[in-house]
Amino acid sequence: MNSVYLNGSYMPLQEAKISPMDRGFLFGDGVYEVIPSYSGKTLGFDLHIDRLNRNLKEIDIELHLDNKYWQDITDTLLAQNPSENTGIYFQISRGADTKRLHAYPKNITPTIFAFAFDIAPPKPADKLKVIGLKVTTDQDQRWKRCHLKSTSLLGNIMHYHQGQTAGVNETILYNDKNELTEASACNVFIVKDKVLSTPPLSYQLLGGITRHILLDIVRKHTLLKVQERIISIDEVRQADEIWITSSSKEIAPVIELDGQAVGDGKVGDVWERTQAVFNQHKVDY
Ligand code: PDD
Repeated sequence: MNSVYLNGSYMPLQEAKISPMDRGFLFGDGVYEVIPSYSGKTLGFDLHIDRLNRNLKEIDIELHLDNKYWQDITDTLLAQNPSENTGIYFQISRGADTKRLHAYPKNITPTIFAFAFDIAPPKPADKLKVIGLKVTTDQDQRWKRCHLKSTSLLGNIMHYHQGQTAGVNETILYNDKNELTEASACNVFIVKDKVLSTPPLSYQLLGGITRHILLDIVRKHTLLKVQERIISIDEVRQADEIWITSSSKEIAPVIELDGQAVGDGKVGDVWERTQAVFNQHKVDY
């Protein structure tokens, strides 16, 4: 890692210092974004910045910065950290106060931190070249504001850790009505009888940018019938294909759920066709 951005300056990571009184550290009081880029071109940049601005507004962090501000940091970090596939991480906390008070303090300056990191290369469309993921399931134990891209991620990382402990890649979550929400760090899609379904946006899941772009591409190119609807965890178990999406995983096919094969236990044909069209059109976002 070459350099990171902190509050207006670029510096080596080991020189980047934040006060222990920063509310991001004390309370997880902040929001973040992960923006992927492939061969120097970001994917969904404006969509990510719009979500960041919505999140900042929702938690009352006042920052009046235009897209150019975020674009300049992104361009600089990409230039300083040359790599084929790079994610840009932005975190904004409410800032550092002199006291630890729950109330939002007035007149403190938000902390803005950004760095670049390597992400996996985009998925080839050839299913024989892709390793399918294994996942487990659990009841969603997180809070009721999962639509916020909050840095308070303890609930998410505990679910993620649970999957790792079980020797799998992710944990797919369902609510107390046995309805699919999302995974610990991804959105979830199922394919059944050539219909692509994903849960509708709500406080129970993050409105993923990859989810948005995938739905848009599938609809525009009428690849498949699409439904945003409530999905029971039993339907997930019966699905022909399961995919999980995120800015660092793109569209990842799942081949095993709780030790049982998904479909025929191989990366699916619908995924293969969709991934090919996604690769072709993602440059438009
Ligand atoms: N995770 N749901 C959750 C809980 C997530 O943490 C993420 C992303 C997604 C997918 O969102 P997007 O397509 O905008 O990346 C859904 C990121 C990558 C992370 O925390 O590192």
